[in-house]
Amino acid sequence: MSKKDVILVIGSSGQIGTELVQKLREVYGTDNVVASDLKKTEQAKEGPFEVLDIMNAQQLLDIVSKHKVTQVYLLAALLSATAEKMPKFGWQLNMEGLFHVLDLAKEKIISKIYWPSSIAVFGPNTPKKNTPQFTVMEPSTVYGISKQAGERWCEYYFNKYNVDVRSLRYPGLIGWKSAPGGGTTDYAVHIYHQALKTGAYDCFLSENTTLPMMYMDDAIKATIGIMEANAADVKIRSSYNISGMSFSPKDIAAEIRKHIKGFEISYTPDFRQEIADSWPQSIVDIEAKKDWKWMPEYDLAKMTEIMLANLK
Ligand code: NAD
Ligand code: SER
Repeated sequence: MSKKDVILVIGSSGQIGTELVQKLREVYGTDNVVASDLKKTEQAKEGPFEVLDIMNAQQLLDIVSKHKVTQVYLLAALLSATAEKMPKFGWQLNMEGLFHVLDLAKEKIISKIYWPSSIAVFGPNTPKKNTPQFTVMEPSTVYGISKQAGERWCEYYFNKYNVDVRSLRYPGLIGWKSAPGGGTTDYAVHIYHQALKTGAYDCFLSENTTLPMMYMDDAIKATIGIMEANAADVKIRSSYNISGMSFSPKDIAAEIRKHIKGFEISYTPDFRQEIADSWPQSIVDIEAKKDWKWMPEYDLAKMTEIMLANLK
């Protein structure tokens, strides 16, 4: 990032934005990172903040012009579980928001975009274990369909209009600083809170539902890593697989039990089970490792230690 760059984070008060804004401000300076969300939040006390609805293209343009924004991180979206409850709205928000930002870059008003995709781009016909970058996709959730379409549009804008857009297929993200916002992997955050609060957790996924997951610090490192990479090294302009760890509710409960003796888990699978069953269990990310030197640092044991220590 050059000295003249100004970053706008859209959907900044959510699970990722809360941590990403803090890190971006540490790295690039508070005044160079504008946070924005639907409503004013605590973030407004920490640095520049704007109320912004990404569905409103004029409001977006006004804020970009006001702050002379050069880079946008677009985090506003409906996640998998919420989007299943409001399919049309999920599609609208996830696609229109992306177009508003892509078009700003097409018009050369901004120069770089970060937009997250998800493991949800894969579907029931994808190989479940060691899912590669390029494979059958066919997502079966509204969220996955919107993310796959988004990936295609990102690549299209790069190829046709030379838009510098970069993207990662995040697995389920787990951190202690912020609450998750309506995903299928949210149980892996809730479980730590409940373990400390009550010593027990009733999980909405079944015990052997293994999914790809990642500790938030790794996700933030990957996000800033791909944005800092030389443009020529970002060879995939749809979205990169990235991998941290894979575990099931049974595995995470066993890890928590090493710290909280007698921790109990029960299982009451709900509609999110079907979503989880359509996703991969583990991801191969050799392209990200090769192209821009991505490397995760956290496994389940290390993450559990940190989560419990900080949530206490
Ligand atoms: P979140 O739900 O926690 O946060 C999203 C934020 O966007 C919220 O603060 C919300 O108020 C805001 N928002 C909603 N509608 C908006 C609008 N119209 N205009 C402006 N802001 C709006 O989500 P998150 O977990 O932080 O996810 C951020 C992005 O990362 C999403 O695109 C999501 O699909 C992707 N992702 C997240 C995960 C994960 O595990 N958290 C995994 C894969 C991909
Ligand atoms: N954590 C996200 C979800 O469950 C994955 O994209 O929706």
